[in-house]
Amino acid sequence: MTAAQLPLTMSSAIRAPAPDAVLRVIRNGIEAPLALPLRDMPGFGAELSEAHMAELARYLRARFAPDLPPWP
Ligand code: HEM
Repeated sequence: MTAAQLPLTMSSAIRAPAPDAVLRVIRNGIEAPLALPLRDMPGFGAELSEAHMAELARYLRARFAPDLPPWP
C-alpha cells in the first residue's frame, strides 16, 4: 500500500470538516504520481450532477467516518 492507497477510513479528505476535497476528487479525479505504479482516478464531473456528487460525498462521510458528524 502506498500513501495514495490509504483505506478510506484514514482519508484526511473524508475526515475533513468540509466536503470540498472529496468533491474535488470525485469531480476532477487524481493523477497518479509518476514515481508510483498507480493508475489515475478518472473524474466524474461530466457524468454526475452536483446533487449526485454531494450525495456520494455524504455517503462516503457516513460510511467511512461514522465517528464524525455529517457535513453541513
Ligand atoms: C476521497 C475519496 C477518493 C479518493 C482519495 C480516491 C483515490 C483514488 C486513487 C488513489 C485511485 C488509484 C488507485 C490505484 O491505482 O491503485 C483511484 C482509482 C479509482 N477511483 Fe477513486 N478515490 C476516491 C473516491 C472515489 C469515488 C467516490 C469513486 C466513484 C465515483 C471513485 C472511482 C474510482 C475509479 C473508477 C478508479 C479506478 C480507475 C482505474 O481503474 O484505472 N473514487 N481513486
